[in-house]
Formats: sequence, C-alpha cells, structure tokens
Amino acid sequence: MRMMTKMMTTSNFIDLKEYLRERAALVDAALDRWLPGETVLPPRLHEAMRYSVFAGGKRLRPILVIAACEAVGGTPERALHAACAMEMIHTYSLIHDDLPAMDDDDFRRGRPTNHKVFGEANAILAGDALLTEAFRLLADADATRGLDPAVSLRVIANIARCAGSQGMVGGQVVDMEAEGQSLDFATLQYIHTRKTGALFLAAIQTGAWLGGGDDDQLAALTRYGEAAGLAFQIADDILDIVGNQDELGKDVGSDQARGKATYPALLGLSEARRRAEGQRDLAVASLEPLGANAEPLRAIARYIVDRTS
Ligand code: IPE
Ligand code: IPE
Ligand code: MG
Ligand code: MG
Ligand code: MG
Repeated sequence: MRMMTKMMTTSNFIDLKEYLRERAALVDAALDRWLPGETVLPPRLHEAMRYSVFAGGKRLRPILVIAACEAVGGTPERALHAACAMEMIHTYSLIHDDLPAMDDDDFRRGRPTNHKVFGEANAILAGDALLTEAFRLLADADATRGLDPAVSLRVIANIARCAGSQGMVGGQVVDMEAEGQSLDFATLQYIHTRKTGALFLAAIQTGAWLGGGDDDQLAALTRYGEAAGLAFQIADDILDIVGNQDELGKDVGSDQARGKATYPALLGLSEARRRAEGQRDLAVASLEPLGANAEPLRAIARYIVDRTS
C-alpha cells in the first residue's frame, strides 16, 4: 500500500518529454561551445566531428549523467562537462561502428554516415579526435574547479575503463567476432553489457559521483545503470527488426543481414521484449532508496523500452 501510494504520487511529477528536451538543449549548447569550430584548422576534421555530433542524437547518455547527478541532489551544471564528454565518446563509437570494416551502415541520425560524406580516413580520425577531446574536456580546469581532485580522477579513470578494451571497445570486438556464429547466451550477455551497457553505467556513476552521492546511492544507481543499459540494447536489437528507418534515422535490418548476436536472434522477438521489460523493472526497482529526485531516471527506464527511435 505504501509502495502504491508512492508510485501514484511520484509518477505524475515529471513530464519526461519536457525534461529530455530541456536537458538536451543544455547539452547541445555546451557541445557547441566546447567543440572546436568548423573553421579551426584543420577545418575538414572539425566539420566531420560536428557533422556527427549535431546530426540529432537523443543525447541519452549525457542526460543520464545529468539525471543521476540530480537524483543525488546535484545541479545539471555540475555534470555538464562530463555529460558532453560522454556524448563525444558515444558519437565517436557510432562513427566507427558504421565504418565498412565494422557494421558498414549508410545512415545514422537521419543523415548519410560520416565515412560516406568525409571518407573513411577522416571518419576514423574524427572518431579518434572526439574520443581524445572528451578526455581533454573531462580534465579541463572549468570541469574540475571546486571538485575534490580524487573525485575528478575517479570519474576520468572510470569513463576510460568503461570505454576501453574491457568495456565498450571490448564489446565491439566480440560483437564482430560473433557475426555469423552460433549464439550462446553468455557471449550475447558479454557483448551487450560491454558495447552498450558500459557507457550507460559510466554515465550514471559519473553523475552520482559529481553530485556527491553516498555509497548507498551509488550502489542503487549502479544497479540502475546496469539494468537500463541492457534494456536499451535489447530494445535497439528489437527496433532493428520492427523499427521504422525514417523514425530511427539509421539502417534497419542490418543485424540480420550481418548475422549479429542479438536478443531476438537468440530468443525470438516476444521473449526479447519480455527480457527488456524485466530489465526495465529491475532498473526502476533499484531506485527505491532514492525518492522523488530520481523520478526522471524512472521515466527514462520506461522510455528506453517503449521508444520507437
Ligand atoms: C545507438 O545509440 C547505439 C547503441 C548503443 C545501440 P542511440 O540509440 O542512443 O543513438 P543516438 O545517440 O540517439 O543517435
Ligand atoms: C553499437 O551497437 C554499439 C556501439 C556503437 C558501441 P549497434 O551496432 O547495434 O548500434 P546501431 O544499431 O548501429 O546504432
Ligand atoms: Mg555494431
Ligand atoms: Mg551498428
Ligand atoms: Mg543496433
């Protein structure tokens, strides 16, 4: 009964669309400020970086940094540098993911992929530069001002770990090794928790640390990040089959064409949906200790599985 009342009193508090729009606008303005302009030498590289960053992504990872920071009582501004750094790392991962040597896709964020417009070499280098710029931004004097240096270093080390060979990059390698192979659940789980889950987790933990969250809050948010990240990638797998290319802004059907390791390929569509909903419920339940400040995170967990783009 107490749970019920709580759910009913908190579920109407936030207009998720409005929340996402406002936080995305903050992120977009900051990215525009902090990324080198298109006329800065070498202009072709900076144009390529900006082309993919400003092509219209959902900004989910930076919003998660901000929402986690707010969930523990911090301000969006406190989290803004790290939020933008996460979006730069994510965008780099998309540019490289689309390359002919990887998924070989032609559309992303509603536009031709980076290598289609700028050529493969520039696309590789634009990705490299976004990754490097992200760490410059994280260590920037404005980003770290007023923060305990131990917290800044923990944030930076954790993002590096989650993006690196035992995180996102590791997941991408196993994703490609698994192409066309017969699937086993443990490998599928490894791929999804690394290639996508790791950056989700980094985003959430970064926000929790920057907002000054305590150990219990961090533990709750860590469980949320793990579950939400997995739910997100299962939903991405499902959308590759049932989604609309115009709405998604990227190629559909490419997983099946490449024999990718996905939840629907291994378990079928309806079981994949059930698993995504199970992770969503786990994510929402993890936030029980956090109260009303975590309402945006609860709404985001629901949105992750219900989305059509
Ligand atoms: C796509 O991520 C890549 C995956 C990890 C599945 P998003 O669906 O968040 O892409 P954008 O940022 O909105 O373009
Ligand atoms: C991409 O997974 C994960 C990363 C970019 C790290 P997918 O290959 O499934 O992403 P989409 O479907 O191309 O966006
Ligand atoms: Mg891929
Ligand atoms: Mg892909
Ligand atoms: Mg996909």
